[in-house]
Parts: sequence; C-alpha cells; structure tokens
Amino acid sequence: MQLLGVKQIDLYQIHWPNPAIPIKETMKAIEKLVDEGKIRYIGVSNFSLNELKEAQSAMSKYDIVSNQVEYNIMVRGIENDLLPFCRKEHITVIAYSPLARGAVFKEKKVYKLLNGLAGKYGKSIAQIALNYLIADGGVVAIPKASDPKHVEEKCRSSGLDQQRRRDEDKAFFMNASLKEEGDKFKRFIPAVLRLLTFYYKIKVRLK
Ligand SMILES: NC(=O)c1ccc[n+]([C@@H]2O[C@H](COP(=O)([O-])OP(=O)(O)OC[C@H]3O[C@@H](n4cnc5c(N)ncnc54)[C@H](OP(=O)(O)O)[C@@H]3O)[C@@H](O)[C@H]2O)c1
Repeated sequence: MQLLGVKQIDLYQIHWPNPAIPIKETMKAIEKLVDEGKIRYIGVSNFSLNELKEAQSAMSKYDIVSNQVEYNIMVRGIENDLLPFCRKEHITVIAYSPLARGAVFKEKKVYKLLNGLAGKYGKSIAQIALNYLIADGGVVAIPKASDPKHVEEKCRSSGLDQQRRRDEDKAFFMNASLKEEGDKFKRFIPAVLRLLTFYYKIKVRLK
C-alpha cells in the first residue's frame, strides 16, 4: 500500500486459487483485512464455478464482489455456467484478455466476421468485440492497450442494440460451423492417405 500511495485498497483480488492452502483459511484472512480497514472489497480471479461456490461458503461476514476470468469472443466457456451464476449472485465478472490478446485482429475468420459487423454498425472491431462482452450487464472488460489511440477507441465500446447482439451470435455460430468444416477437412486427409496405402498394398500383392 505504501508503494501505491493509498491507505486502503478498493478491490483486493486473489489471483488464482491455491490448492496448497485451504480456501477457508484464505477467505478468513481476507475478511480480517476488511475488518482492519486495509481493503474495501474482496474479489477472486480464475476461480471456476465450484471454486467460487466454495470460497463463498467460507465467508462469514462479507461477499465476494468479483471474479476476474478470461472472457472474449473466442473464449466463451463461462457463458455455460459461471457467468449465469455470477449474474444471479451479483458477482461482477471482470473479463481479462477481452480482445483475446490481440487475436481478434489476427485470426482470419474472427476478423472477417467482426469486420462485417463493424462496417454495419459504424464501430471498430475492438468496439464490437468488447461490446459483445459488456452489453448484457454484469461484466466489465479490462483490455490492455499501449497505443493511446486504442485506449480512446475502447472507451466508445458501449451502446449497441439487441439486433447487433443477435447478428453477432449468428455470426459466431457460423464461425463455429466453419471450424467444423475445417475439422472435417482435417479428418478427410488421413482417410485419403489410408485409402492410397490400401490401394498400393493391393497393387503390390497382385504383382
Ligand atoms: N487475472 C489473470 O490471470 C490475467 C491473465 C492475463 C491478463 N490479465 C489482464 O488482462 C488485461 C488485458 O489482457 P491482455 O493483455 O491479455 O490482452 P487484450 O486486452 O485481450 O489484448 C491486448 C492486445 O490487443 C491489442 N489491441 C488493442 N486494441 C487494438 C486495436 N484497436 N487494434 C489493434 N490491436 C489492438 C493491443 O495492442 P497495443 O498494446 O498496441 O494497443 C494488445 O496487443 C490486463 O490488464 C492483464 O493484467 C489478467
């Protein structure tokens, strides 16, 4: 706190669950920090649904207010369980790597889809990708940018309507099926190789 020049930390996040230390012990120690006035709110990071539930049940006085997890348009696993649970419990999801560490600008199919939506809504690719995460509430995104222009651009990521949201989901389902096509192609090559080997074996036998 001395280095930060603050008397109190607004949000103290446990960076990763530590299997070597019982979660109960950790949560008790953190609650003590709130009692002592050293921190205001308690958050966790990289906690799965079960780990979050366990941490919650170990708290006796305060609530867990946030869980910082990887969430971006290419990594959407939390939408199945963790995100609905956090919304229900009023635990803010802090989405880290919200631009997939820059991959949304590089991965061809994702770029193409986002670029199409960006043109349609007069927004940039970064704004479309970030808006997807924050549009329904309960999620804040913490993008990294070293370029000041990128920072400014991200500040205008909110305010797209539901139609965009539906289009985006559709676009992503399309992307998923394109990926499947790719996988089918990958399965197709070994099948052709097996067929050719079989053909040559027969040919050698017939000689
Ligand atoms: N809790 C955890 O375990 C954990 C783990 C990883 C990361 N994080 C946190 O997540 C935050 C950010 O995530 P991240 O660094 O992984 O990546 P990110 O925000 O997903 O992506 C950052 C990259 O995207 C580029 N970018 C941003 N806007 C752009 C634009 N408009 N056009 C082109 N490129 C653009 C940036 O380039 P420029 O730099 O050139 O602008 C940078 O290379 C950080 O605060 C980090 O501490 C937390």
